[in-house]
Formats: sequence, structure tokens, C-alpha cells
Amino acid sequence: MGRQYWKPSNMLYPVPAVLVSCADEEGHANVMTAAWAGTVCSDPVMLSVSIRRERYSHGIIKRTGEFVVNLTTEKLAKVTDYVGVKSGRDIDKFALQGDLKLTKSESRFVKAPGIAESPVCLECRVTQILELGSHDMFIAEVLSTDIDEQYLDEKGKFDLAAAKLVAYSHGEYYALGELLGKFGYSVRKK
Ligand SMILES: Cc1cc2nc3c(=O)[nH]c(=O)nc-3n(C[C@H](O)[C@H](O)[C@H](O)COP(=O)(O)O)c2cc1C
Repeated sequence: MGRQYWKPSNMLYPVPAVLVSCADEEGHANVMTAAWAGTVCSDPVMLSVSIRRERYSHGIIKRTGEFVVNLTTEKLAKVTDYVGVKSGRDIDKFALQGDLKLTKSESRFVKAPGIAESPVCLECRVTQILELGSHDMFIAEVLSTDIDEQYLDEKGKFDLAAAKLVAYSHGEYYALGELLGKFGYSVRKK
């Protein structure tokens, strides 16, 4: 079997599919899904989210300079897809019910709410906007890591695996699979 050479693509997978929440100047909140998101710096803690200009969230985040990145779980997979195909221009995504229901959680440093059903909400303030082409990349400093206490064990250790995070790969959502090793396990003495 040979190797085929295809045109450039965004086939850098898997990536997280996160919920990006924001609030406009009147306090009306919105949320969209973003897969073009990533960590970009450890100190200061920074991340990026790339958003198309036509998204309703784009204007809100550009004007307010704030948003919250919320990690998604198996339970949140359906609503993650839903808020990624519906616009806040047409519906109030915080008024959805049943298995699509999202509850606002208070943020400490930004007006944008986090999502209570998410295990980790990262409060962000925009520091730079890079106009790249189809997407504007919002580079932001993470001001607070808001975690759901239910994932803390008796010793206060945060058990992120228990949250059952979701990955996005080539148009599909996946539950994370089995643990293969821990950071540095390849060089650790047995
Ligand atoms: C899995 C998934 C990933 C997405 N990733 C992005 C992204 O990284 N950037 C973007 O601009 N739109 C992305 N979208 C599309 C937006 O979430 C979608 O257009 C949404 O309706 C925008 O909401 P808004 O108009 O309320 O802001 C994604 C959608 C899905 C389902």
C-alpha cells in the first residue's frame, strides 16, 4: 500500500470540542461549540479559540473581550453538537430543556457565565485577536479555573477522568478510551 498526498486539511485530530460561553453588554448569554481551540502558553496561562466572523458569538467576544471555555463530557455531547449548529441569533441557547439544558454558573472575573454541567470552566480575557482568514483567533489569558467539586476525591485531588471528557475527530465525537500511561512513563524505572 502506498501513501496518498492530499490537499492541505485541518486533519490535526483529535481535538477537544469545547463550549464557549459569552455574554453581551446587557448580560444576555450565548454559547457556541469550538473545536479550533487549544492551549498556547503555560505562564501566563493562555489559550486560543478560532471563531468565524459570521458567528453571533464572534461579535460579542470581540466587543466584550471575555469568554469562558467549558470542557465537554459524554453527558454534554448532544448539546455540544446542538449549540454548534444553532445560532444565538435565532434561539436562546440557555433556555433549552431536557437533555439539552445548560445552566449558567457564576464566573469570578468575567461577566460571561460558565456552564454548571461542565467539570471545568476556564474564565478568559482576550489579549490579542489575529485575523487569519476564515477565522479570527482569539488569544486569551485564563483568569480562573472553575471546577466542579464532585470530581474532587477525599484527598482533594481532581479526578478529571471521572468527568468522562469527549474528544472530536474528523467530524465525530468520541468518549476517551483506556489509560495508556502517565506523563513520563516511558522513562520511569519500574
Ligand atoms: C463540533 C463543532 C465544532 C465547531 N468548531 C467551531 C470553531 O472552532 N470555530 C467556529 O467559528 N465555529 C465552530 N463551530 C460552529 C459553531 O459552533 C456554530 O456555527 C454555532 O452555531 C455558532 O453559534 P453562534 O452563532 O450562536 O455564535 C463548530 C461546530 C461544531 C458542531
